[in-house]
Amino acid sequence: MAQLEELSKIANAIVAPGKGILAADESTATIGKRFADIGIENNDDNRRLYRQAIGKLYGVLFQLLFTSDKVVAENISGVILFHETLYQKADDGTPFVELLKQKGIIPGIKVDKGVVPLFGSEDECTTQGLDDLAQRCAQYKKDGCDFAKWRCVLKIKRNTPSYQAILENANVLARYASICQANRIVPIVEPEKVTETVLAAVYKALNDHHVFLEGTLLKPNMVTAGQSCTTKYTPRDIAAATVTALNRTVPAAVAGVTFLSGGQSEEEASVNLDAINKYTGKKPWPLTFSYGRALQASVLRAWGGKPENVKAAQGELIKRAKANGLACQAKYVAGSVKNIASVDSNFVKNHSY
Ligand code: 13P
Repeated sequence: MAQLEELSKIANAIVAPGKGILAADESTATIGKRFADIGIENNDDNRRLYRQAIGKLYGVLFQLLFTSDKVVAENISGVILFHETLYQKADDGTPFVELLKQKGIIPGIKVDKGVVPLFGSEDECTTQGLDDLAQRCAQYKKDGCDFAKWRCVLKIKRNTPSYQAILENANVLARYASICQANRIVPIVEPEKVTETVLAAVYKALNDHHVFLEGTLLKPNMVTAGQSCTTKYTPRDIAAATVTALNRTVPAAVAGVTFLSGGQSEEEASVNLDAINKYTGKKPWPLTFSYGRALQASVLRAWGGKPENVKAAQGELIKRAKANGLACQAKYVAGSVKNIASVDSNFVKNHSY
């Protein structure tokens, strides 16, 4: 069937050898925090002005990312956009979507409407946005998007994730995936903070909803130690734990796995992805990146809000994309690509997108 063929073609193109995703779908609030980190536009005494400034700066950042050299496309197959960015234009009037397509990069869109509390649970959550998703997907497809992202968050604590949260989030992800596919959009399924139990529930729900796995991608975290853990694990340990968990739960039919960076430094995210690809266990899917912070930390630092730094900032993106392009082929040599913020932690407590 043409629709299924189209879905697997898109999914396979995203995880083509040496390529991965730039996740640039930060909400306006999150991008505001990132700008505050680099010390620009901290207008907290004037909220109105601040919001206006953030809106404008948000556009500037994307212009910086998307007008970079064509060479970025050698390692970036897709970019996840936030709704607002999808309809923004570069200074010369070219819509950002067009800029991406001209470079052979596939535009994607974040379609969830954020994480909300799950009443009756121990501080767990679910993700909203299903109500008008079919109409939005139809429109996004018309406007040039071929894939989508929906993020669910599972909390790993002593008593959680609970059965309630696992079931709820798996079902929401399955409904989202099914609605996307009905509209010829490849769904990235993102149950952030995975455990084997969570992944098993997610794939059961996807099966219950007849989701075409060959036209989906999984976006999990790597299995790394928690921030407060004092034991140091090597990239090989992380690779072994990650590949084992995925092998036990992710069907071989899934088109690919695109990891989030989840607070790792740019360098850690490249080294660990490389170790995962070097690991000699069974790996039936391409294993690549869909990084937000680990592809943008140095870009933001180099740019610092100054137009004269745009070229330098774009250079940082090209370098980091190259490092990850090598890592997803098990060819990255640790420390061989140096960026200005590549060893800084990107950890943010209670992080949201
Ligand atoms: P990080 O790589 O910053 O964890 O974010 C990835 C993400 O989920 C955005 O789409």
